Amino acid sequence: MFNPRIGLFFIVCSFLLCAFSFATTVEYDTNAIIINGERRIIISGAIHYPRSTSQMWPDLIKKAKDGGLDAIETYIFWDLHEPIRRQYDFSENLDFIKFLKNVHEEGLYVVLRIGPYVCAEWNYGGFPMWLHNLPGIQLRTDNVVFKEEMKIFTTKIVTLCKEAGLFAPQGGPIILAQIENEYGDVITNYGEDGNAYIKWCAQMALAQNVGVPWIMCKQNNAPSPIINTCNGYYCDNFKPNNPKSPKMFTENWVGWFQKWGERKPHRTAEDVAFSVARFFQNGGVLQNYYMYHGGTNFGRTAGGPYIITAYDYDAPLDEYGNLNQPKWGHLKKLHAAIKLGEKVLTNGTVTEKQYGDSDVEVDLQQDGKYHVPSWSVSILQDCNKEVFNTAKVDAQTNVYVKKLSKELGNSLIWTWASDPVEDTLQAIGTFNASQLLEQKSVTVDASDYLWYMTKVFINETSTWSNATLQVNTSGHVLHAYVNGQYIGPQWGTYDNLRFTYEKIVSLKQGTNIISLLSGTVGHAHYGASFDMKETGIVGGPVKLIATSSGNTMDLSKSSWSYKVGLNGEARRFYDSKIKNGVQWNINNVVIGKPLTWYKTTFKTPEGKDSVVLDFIGLTKGHAWVNGQSIGRYWPTMVADKNGCDIKCDYRGNYGADKCLSGCGEPSQRFYHVPRSFLNNDTKSNTLVLFEEMGGSPFNVSVQTVAIDFICARTDYGKTLELKCPDGKTISEIQFASYGDPQGNCGSFQVGEWESRHSVAVVEKACGGKQLCSINVTSSIFGITKGGINGQLAVQLLCDGSNPEDNRVQMVHV
Ligand SMILES: *[C@@H]1O[C@H](CO)[C@@H](O)[C@H](O)[C@H]1NC(C)=O
Ligand SMILES: *[C@@H]1O[C@H](CO)[C@@H](O)[C@H](O)[C@H]1NC(C)=O
Ligand SMILES: *[C@@H]1O[C@H](CO)[C@@H](O)[C@H](O)[C@H]1NC(C)=O
Ligand SMILES: *[C@@H]1O[C@H](CO)[C@@H](O)[C@H](O)[C@H]1NC(C)=O
Ligand SMILES: *[C@@H]1O[C@H](CO)[C@@H](O)[C@H](O)[C@H]1NC(C)=O
Ligand SMILES: *[C@@H]1O[C@H](CO)[C@@H](O)[C@H](O)[C@H]1NC(C)=O
Ligand SMILES: *[C@@H]1O[C@H](CO)[C@@H](O)[C@H](O)[C@H]1NC(C)=O
Ligand SMILES: *[C@@H]1O[C@H](CO)[C@@H](O)[C@H](O)[C@H]1NC(C)=O
Repeated sequence: MFNPRIGLFFIVCSFLLCAFSFATTVEYDTNAIIINGERRIIISGAIHYPRSTSQMWPDLIKKAKDGGLDAIETYIFWDLHEPIRRQYDFSENLDFIKFLKNVHEEGLYVVLRIGPYVCAEWNYGGFPMWLHNLPGIQLRTDNVVFKEEMKIFTTKIVTLCKEAGLFAPQGGPIILAQIENEYGDVITNYGEDGNAYIKWCAQMALAQNVGVPWIMCKQNNAPSPIINTCNGYYCDNFKPNNPKSPKMFTENWVGWFQKWGERKPHRTAEDVAFSVARFFQNGGVLQNYYMYHGGTNFGRTAGGPYIITAYDYDAPLDEYGNLNQPKWGHLKKLHAAIKLGEKVLTNGTVTEKQYGDSDVEVDLQQDGKYHVPSWSVSILQDCNKEVFNTAKVDAQTNVYVKKLSKELGNSLIWTWASDPVEDTLQAIGTFNASQLLEQKSVTVDASDYLWYMTKVFINETSTWSNATLQVNTSGHVLHAYVNGQYIGPQWGTYDNLRFTYEKIVSLKQGTNIISLLSGTVGHAHYGASFDMKETGIVGGPVKLIATSSGNTMDLSKSSWSYKVGLNGEARRFYDSKIKNGVQWNINNVVIGKPLTWYKTTFKTPEGKDSVVLDFIGLTKGHAWVNGQSIGRYWPTMVADKNGCDIKCDYRGNYGADKCLSGCGEPSQRFYHVPRSFLNNDTKSNTLVLFEEMGGSPFNVSVQTVAIDFICARTDYGKTLELKCPDGKTISEIQFASYGDPQGNCGSFQVGEWESRHSVAVVEKACGGKQLCSINVTSSIFGITKGGINGQLAVQLLCDGSNPEDNRVQMVHV
């Protein structure tokens, strides 16, 4: 017979058991983070959820776990979540709760850096632009208006996390939370208010009662119990200001970001591993890779100004989410080695030997001589067996290649439409002012663009027919039209935002119309009072200087008419799903005409390889696929021809000017189209471009990023491990030699001696498999040379990769 009392008792009881068994306690001392009483070292990696898509998250997080991470770190991006005051957006790739749940499902912890100032090379440092125009506001200081907004948003985020049960004491993954960000860099610029603000931040955060420790980074006066943490390339010498705080490394920069016109920075796997190992060797307890996956600055989210759309960062997972090898694999092995020593490291009983600046042979007595390369850390087991050396990379190298999509080649059929500029070329705007206004205050960043228009009456054509139009602007790009005639573009640089536009113009008798189009390329995100950095033609002056006489006419106080944004943007030319009345011209596709829209369709490339668009031939603009922005593009910004360093010595302190690639090439030629933006049936996809300066779409193509080949080099006594991407298997052994193989990945050669069984052994162990391993021993290869053991070098193809097939360009060299 059914007994309701017993049933009820059972339900309540099991519920309580669940709640207790899953709650996680997070404590710490100077040597460990103590999770549920267990002394832990935490290895974390940054993945910013809006820099990929929700469809990409599970795979990225899984690859992070496979790479040996314990935790994922992310910022929270206020500007996207609250684009309009008190109107919130947590949909699609802004669904950070879903992202954190994905992390939890994979069994990883979360380091939640709320900020809400995040820097991050993100537009306006993550602040919504409406903050800028709130009466009486001053950002990031002891200001009532700002503090109120910051508190409301922080509370909103904490509340959402609590409602979803995401903090550790609730059984969730969040083990640490951060308030503010790198404020120590700028605090002195805010005087006493800066100190008061940091105290307020601490109190406000603590009052949120999240049940996990709060951190601040680069804040050497962090009020206790807030933990001050370190950001940089190396943090082994860092000491938190509070002697009770554990030593944490919140941003280990695995590479660097790129601006338009810059070469691509790389940081070697050896040096990143060296930095991590030294940090833990010197008492570190948490280390976070910034970034583990950098991703893409979709839309207008790139910071700036002049930050490119890709945010690859040379991270262990590349922009598309593929393994950046050997970096990913080398760090995976490092993590495993560190975890072997977790008990010792968290006990504060590490023994360390420093051996000076160059390679050394260490005498391990009965265990013989042991070679330690310079700028490296060795992790030994039982003080005699090398588990890992940071400078000895035997993880595989993946070489990727971009291939033209078979579905299409490059035969895209284009239609075009001019941006409707009839009104702005007639100086018809939406409001007037007798001064030159600051751009973001006017646009509230609703668009990159602001038209400044005025009229000039000329009656002495002898003087004025030939004149220089001179515009002093605070950036970032300026175009001018005089009497409807395009005069040309000019732009500044990251370090020199203010520039002077100067071009010869021809004026006529009577009324002349000057229409200036000012464009921003990401708002400043860093530095003291970065939020106050002016943009646009604010204050000017705007002058006409007669060529013949040098007479000057100052137009700065003329009546200026304004219009925010482009008509094509307002009418959403990029969205083919809505009726916007645009007439796409099929014939006589124009090229080289500024402010031109182009449209085409393309089929989704088959398979799972990442999809990119090659924008060679375009100038500057913005692109959308099926109405979704894939970001700004600017392939005419070409990097310096000189200063690239393919060899790239890992030894010595890293800086972002070391180990550069891409000399003489566009800073960014390829633009990521996440697969989820594409239709997965045979329906075609729509690509819309807004060409700002006037290029040609005829060389634009759809490509995929495929694995070209994989390589590895392994010493005697070690294990060679190889893996093809999911869905592919090892299909051909291009090279295998056990002996003294010469050269590098892509150009291996047989040395003076080798085992003649090399290829057969590798073929037997690896052929047809996705993953294989070979213990490199003499019993397998059966030979030595004068008593010296050899090395095994291999180069393999993964199924579907074929270096002769439509090769377009090597990605990694
Ligand atoms: C940790 O340190 C204590 C005291 O110094 C020592 O007794 C213990 O054996 C150490 N544990 C490990 C795993 O090293
Ligand atoms: C701006 O000024 C011009 C000329 O003075 C005038 O024709 C126009 O109507 C004004 N526009 C607005 C929006 O007030
Ligand atoms: C036109 O030119 C004459 C003499 O060249 C000058 O006196 C007059 O002020 C000018 N008118 C305007 C509107 O500039
Ligand atoms: C203006 O004058 C300059 C210098 O004399 C000359 O090089 C240029 O061709 C002239 N431009 C126009 C539009 O007349
Ligand atoms: C405007 O630009 C010119 C030319 O570069 C320069 O000489 C002048 O000082 C600038 N004026 C202001 C106010 O910046
Ligand atoms: C693509 O296919 C998957 C299932 O295979 C489906 O869940 C998804 O909605 C499809 N996406 C589109 C854009 O059609
Ligand atoms: C396209 O690329 C080809 C080959 O590089 C080049 O010759 C041609 O000028 C380009 N066409 C356009 C329209 O840019
Ligand atoms: C390599 O050696 C290890 C232990 O020495 C062993 O566990 C493993 O199975 C070996 N792997 C292969 C592929 O022989």
